[in-house]
Amino acid sequence: MKQHFIDLPQMIAAGGSVRLPGSKSISNRALLLAALSSGVTDIHGLLASDDTARMSEALRTLGVDLAETEDGRWQVQGCAGRFPARQADLFLGNAGTAFRSLTAALALAGGNYTLRGVPRMHERPIGDLVDALRSLGADVTYLESDGFPPLRLRSAAIRPGGTVDVRGNVSSQFLSGLLMALPLTGVETTLRVAGELISRPYVEITLELMARFGVRVARQGWQSFTVPAAASYVSPGVFVVEGDASSASYFLAAGAIAARREPLWVEGVGRHSIQGDVRFAEALAQMGALIETGDDWMAARRPPQGLHGITLDCNHIPDAAMTLAATALFAQGETRLTHIASWRVKETDRIAAMATELRKLGARVEEGDDFLTIAPPEGGHPLQAAAIDTYDDHRMAMCFSLAAFGTPLRINDPACTAKTFPDYFARFGRVVAPAPVIAIDGPTASGKGAVSARVARALGFHYLDSGALYRLTALAAREAGIDWADEAGVAAVAARLDVAFDDGEVWLAGREVSTAIRHESISSGASRVAALPQVRAALLFRQRAFHRAPGLVGDGRDMASVVFPQAGLKIFLTASTEVRAERRYKQLIDKGMTANMESLLQDLQERDARDAARSVAPLRQQPDAVLLDTTTMGIEEAVAFVLGLARDRGLSAG
Ligand code: DC
Repeated sequence: MKQHFIDLPQMIAAGGSVRLPGSKSISNRALLLAALSSGVTDIHGLLASDDTARMSEALRTLGVDLAETEDGRWQVQGCAGRFPARQADLFLGNAGTAFRSLTAALALAGGNYTLRGVPRMHERPIGDLVDALRSLGADVTYLESDGFPPLRLRSAAIRPGGTVDVRGNVSSQFLSGLLMALPLTGVETTLRVAGELISRPYVEITLELMARFGVRVARQGWQSFTVPAAASYVSPGVFVVEGDASSASYFLAAGAIAARREPLWVEGVGRHSIQGDVRFAEALAQMGALIETGDDWMAARRPPQGLHGITLDCNHIPDAAMTLAATALFAQGETRLTHIASWRVKETDRIAAMATELRKLGARVEEGDDFLTIAPPEGGHPLQAAAIDTYDDHRMAMCFSLAAFGTPLRINDPACTAKTFPDYFARFGRVVAPAPVIAIDGPTASGKGAVSARVARALGFHYLDSGALYRLTALAAREAGIDWADEAGVAAVAARLDVAFDDGEVWLAGREVSTAIRHESISSGASRVAALPQVRAALLFRQRAFHRAPGLVGDGRDMASVVFPQAGLKIFLTASTEVRAERRYKQLIDKGMTANMESLLQDLQERDARDAARSVAPLRQQPDAVLLDTTTMGIEEAVAFVLGLARDRGLSAG
């Protein structure tokens, strides 16, 4: 089943080492060039992701023989410039690298083909590439809107040679696609870049890879590129794909941001990389990060004084620059990223998406046609917990994982990282450490509230009284005239709940309700609404949003089982029913309320039964929870017991 969201607690440390997945840009170029070569190419380290899957599927459809070996290498039997299938319908998803380069190669190779993608691919411009191909005689038809995929290609008389103009300021992939395709014509042809050429490092990758497959392009700076006559691709035999430099950026940024100053290492790219995004490390260094680079590794560490904002022209690192936008949340002052207009035609409009989502966290953001300015929240306020949308854009999901160093957050549709980095969140999870959490569950009136609050105070941790959220929901529903049995209605109330916890006081929509939510009728309502799955789902992220540095003590019924299953310490705190009834009786009398021991006892038993028997998140001691029976124990003793365990497990050291 597709995972709809991932909740990240606030992270307090990062460190260790990550072996990077293969570079997407290199993988897709290597697949195409190997397919167009004569001879067999043995590709090591190819990225396994959506984008590379689209490319390899397309090549297979075109009749190219490629196979993955058991140890993850790919063997490609080249077709020496002539695809066996002269007719095919190709689906290329949202893989820009595959779409642009195959359009050029197939248009010049000849044959009848259609090329389609996902709806977003059909919104990404391709007119400049088509114009250039048409000027060479290619027969290209737009199947929907002029200037955009899907496309139909038909065999036509190609007239190579001379000089062809191509615009360079929308996507460098147009130039890259043409460069890789021109050797198929056998005639010397010069490509002249009209206007500015953006994202130049990607063109460098193209030229470098063409050279490795035997075709050397003569160039004059960034203005013109000449593909020689009678050039043809020859397999280099073995081809090793570097680690992905853009994927490295998230881990380097994590090392630079995390408060505990341990380095985070990435392996697979380094000093000798041919990818432009390795220069992300320089940008991070400008923000103050301590960077080290080796032949095929890099490491980043936080500077003693923390990071500071910069102004940077990002033309040379368009993809990794997104990581700088997220890093800016942790830099002093403002960060201004310029020359990023190409963001608007990527997987989504990345300028708009970035601005919208950064603002949800409380960042101050200014957005322009080709720039973005980011500053952390006003007055040193912490980042706000929020649910981040990812727009089917792998880089949005990966960038926003970094916000977890400042706040717990929810990332919607995390599986979109599959485009370039399918197991990103698992790898991220292995090199970061969340703030500690102590989960204390138990039945009503067991004293867990008092114990939890004191443990939290002693450790300087935050405290979550999750029962209060169910009580608040019951109260708010009653005030809104919504029946406690109306699941959708109560869940909507829970989702909108306007609450504040302030030094033991509980506020609902600006009103203090600490006593009101303890009333027996509300207690009973809380237990009813707590049995509704939609209500529990609506309150889940609200509870996880308390999981902040330096740590959290959460009390309730399902802290250990559902809300914080990763808790470093789980306590099941209980007492006999009679003792709990006595405690509740005393509490009520102390507050000047009337109480009847017999009905209290009966009420407790009923509520216990309901909390334990319900189908969702029933109250039950988890196998990894420590039982703390306080029937004959005072509060101080119980608190000391929990603190002792916390210390033993290393949860109390800040
Ligand atoms: O802990 P309490 O008595 O304040 O909780 C009020 C009600 O909310 C109780 O009937 C059980 C329910 N609850 C829950 O289902 N899950 C939690 N994590 C906390 C409370």
